[in-house]
Amino acid sequence: MEPISIATWSEVPVDAPVGASIEDIDLVIVRRGVQASVLYGRCLHRGALLADGRLSGDNLICGLHGWDYRVDTGVSAYDNSQALTKFTSWVEGDSLWVDLDEVRAFRASHPQPFDRQSYQGYWGDSHMTPEEPFVGYIRELAAHGLSRTGHHGPVSAMGVPRQQLPSFDDVQIVTAQLARPPRLDDEGVGTEVCIGPNAAKPLWLDIPLFVSDMSFGALSPEAKVALAGGAQLAGTGICSGEGGRLPEEQAANSRYFYEHPHEAGSARSRAAYR
Ligand code: FES
Repeated sequence: MEPISIATWSEVPVDAPVGASIEDIDLVIVRRGVQASVLYGRCLHRGALLADGRLSGDNLICGLHGWDYRVDTGVSAYDNSQALTKFTSWVEGDSLWVDLDEVRAFRASHPQPFDRQSYQGYWGDSHMTPEEPFVGYIRELAAHGLSRTGHHGPVSAMGVPRQQLPSFDDVQIVTAQLARPPRLDDEGVGTEVCIGPNAAKPLWLDIPLFVSDMSFGALSPEAKVALAGGAQLAGTGICSGEGGRLPEEQAANSRYFYEHPHEAGSARSRAAYR
């Protein structure tokens, strides 16, 4: 055992959490009368400093989203599987002591992700959840402003995230079975689709698929013209995308969808065709 003083006891407030830091491990000290509880000082939810929290009855409450930890044990009453490590502590003289060996053992088994030397590193969100995917981006802007993107700010193409696009799994082929008998093998099956049958100019596709929007610039002229020609052979159309538009591509397909740049993303279905 290697005792180390983490606070002057007479200066530790009663019923108010205070922080201490030993060899890059954050601790929270909670003094209740003559008793002290020394717990790991980072919330198990998103790593907030529990010294910034508050006491409520027998619980230490995280200041960010309200996770609770029993002061005497570190165990969350709400979810017992969540428990802050409690360190052995004692008062001697006017000091509050912990066992440095215990803290070091904790550090070895719980490497700390916080880069204390960097800007905001002390308060870094080490978890990053899908629910809050922009925390890292916000921190980047807070730390570096527009110095890494240029004065115009971040620029990216408009578009629909790939995971939001329909996939072949979304295509359901309802086969005839009993109520309507299937056709014989030598009978033709139509796959044509009419979009806007009541429109002044309905769009007929031979198949219920078309080549989606990816503009010239994102794709080479050769690729765009080849895709337009392939779509034409397949009896379907191709969409311009919101960027550059090639006359050759348009000439290669009789069902050319034009995507208006200002409406891309929000109203892709408004694509016009000729
Ligand atoms: S970081 Fe503590 S409750 Fe969210």
